[in-house]
Amino acid sequence: MKQVFIETYGCQMNVSDSELVISILENSGYSHTDEIEQADIIIFNTCSVREHAENRVLGRIANELSRKKQNTDLKIGVIGCMAQRMGRNLNNKDVDFVVGVDQYHKLPQILAELDEKSQFINETTIDKKQIYPDIYPTHQGNFNAFVTIMRGCNNFCTYCIVPYTRGRERSRPTEDILAEIDRVGQAGFKDVTLLGQNVNSYHYQDVNFAKLLQKADQIDSIKRLRFVTSHPKDLSDEVIGVMAESDKVCEHLHLAMQSGNDEVLRRMNRGYTAAHFYEIVQKLRAAIPNIAITTDIIAGFPGETDEQFMDTYKMMQKIRFDYAFTFKYSPRAGTKAAQYPEQIPEETRLKRLQKLIKLQQQITLEKYQEQIGKIKEIYVERLSKKSDKEVAGKSRDFKITVFPGSKALIGKFVQVKITDAVGWTLRGELTE
Ligand code: SAH
Ligand code: SF4
Ligand code: F3S
Repeated sequence: MKQVFIETYGCQMNVSDSELVISILENSGYSHTDEIEQADIIIFNTCSVREHAENRVLGRIANELSRKKQNTDLKIGVIGCMAQRMGRNLNNKDVDFVVGVDQYHKLPQILAELDEKSQFINETTIDKKQIYPDIYPTHQGNFNAFVTIMRGCNNFCTYCIVPYTRGRERSRPTEDILAEIDRVGQAGFKDVTLLGQNVNSYHYQDVNFAKLLQKADQIDSIKRLRFVTSHPKDLSDEVIGVMAESDKVCEHLHLAMQSGNDEVLRRMNRGYTAAHFYEIVQKLRAAIPNIAITTDIIAGFPGETDEQFMDTYKMMQKIRFDYAFTFKYSPRAGTKAAQYPEQIPEETRLKRLQKLIKLQQQITLEKYQEQIGKIKEIYVERLSKKSDKEVAGKSRDFKITVFPGSKALIGKFVQVKITDAVGWTLRGELTE
């Protein structure tokens, strides 16, 4: 049996797609390995969201290509967003195949062709309807499973490459999604995350996202439900209502703010104002006590003045997110913002980014310290990285918690009293 190794970059959608690819290949007689040395086929599932992400993968590919000297049968391929974006241009990297995000079902056929005749294969045709029906992904997570509910994005935020690499929005049939959730639950993954670039625009026949969430909440084989990513402009009161009422939907939401300034938000084509974003946060906090809200922020978007940047800074102080993923703006060829004339110098972008990171570190620490004394339900995932006498898991509000315990606890839900907060980790002790 030929062995396939996959290295995954980028967002959860790529993690989920890698599981899909593993499943497709396993069904065609390949096996999956975690050891790159064992591999007959190495696949890089790539991300184009920022230049840095692309450069990192190109470096990794260049490194692994040298393996072909020892193993002349080794095949190396690129899939994912960079494959979609660069296609044939990746040929000069000496890779064997490039497969785009809508063509993964062809991988077995492509690998068979390569066996017969060694030649570069590029299959990056966009298929607007592709949702990979009838494929049950081989879930790889630690008791956490991603279930894709929709693919693609129609929003065209002016900085973002995703609508170009992933194509237009399409939703999977509700029944398929519910069946997959139950199946992962039966298989022992009790914490399920529904996945899409913009889950709030899920729509299949008369089922919108709120209704889907409500139905998923009824599935007895799982215990926790989450979803990413939500676009603030589409997060409806109906969804907030379902979050508040349902037992399984966790007190945790990732909601990308991007900027706290209206002019910048307008030029990003985000479709909401800073005041509207703040209002949603207030609504969420009123409806769902103790909800953890995390976000994404971009520093140094073209034309962003010092004052506009400070609006973001102040909004972060006002909202106090539990965590923020902060990014330095990276121009992506083909996007609108890359053509905006007032690009901000690298040095300024970096300075602003560092200022945001410093602020958020302080807020996150304070937020985590507020948890001390509370009793939280932890879903134990693994032994702690530092000691085999400690285990680690996540709370419903997505905080990693480490506490003394044996590996017999792995896979269990336990009540833990929080005693300390170190960086982005809570520490505690079992209460039962
Ligand atoms: N669909 C998700 C986001 C996908 S990209 C959503 O809309 O929430 C993840 C994050 O990367 C974005 O939220 C944004 O903050 C950041 N990002 C996207 N394009 C970027 C760029 N060109 N430069 C810097 N950060 C970017
Ligand atoms: Fe990109 Fe905006 Fe779509 Fe998210 S909503 S994937 S940021 S275009
Ligand atoms: Fe990256 Fe593609 Fe996800 S560009 S962030 S892997 S959708």
